[in-house]
Amino acid sequence: MNAVRPPAEPLRAALHHVAVETADLDNCVAWYTEFFGGTAAWTLDEFSDLTRSRLPGIVRLTEVVAAGTRFHLFTRSDDYTLPQPDVPQFQHLCLAVPSAAELEQWRARWQRLFASGRFVFARPDPPTEIVVDDDKVSSLYLYDVNGLEFEFTHVPAEAEGR
Ligand SMILES: [Fe+2]
Repeated sequence: MNAVRPPAEPLRAALHHVAVETADLDNCVAWYTEFFGGTAAWTLDEFSDLTRSRLPGIVRLTEVVAAGTRFHLFTRSDDYTLPQPDVPQFQHLCLAVPSAAELEQWRARWQRLFASGRFVFARPDPPTEIVVDDDKVSSLYLYDVNGLEFEFTHVPAEAEGR
């Protein structure tokens, strides 16, 4: 077992962006912009040698700024195939919202955009119900247009640090 040792000197870091791979960049940028209420800040179609070696076939990347972070939405050329399912990846991304009532609003917005028929969803499962645990922490799970899972949570002050 690894013993946990306090670091000699704490280093600082904060979330900067979340990278999302998509087969349809226009669909993805449109949904992220409208669902998260964000703006498309910039688009790249030329990449460094390092980026091209890490993400073979990358052709376009758009940054959408929303929900207190940046989403780097990118797509690859048609001949690129998705990674094998046994490649380790993050399972979901969780965003905190300031009140339990806002979870209902995010859920309703997802349903409204889905019902509009303007987006193509890889996985058309509806959002979950809003679940509340014993500490009064509420959570909602939903999928983006690519089938990536997002959690939205509200953690009341009395449950912080539990
Ligand atoms: Fe979670």
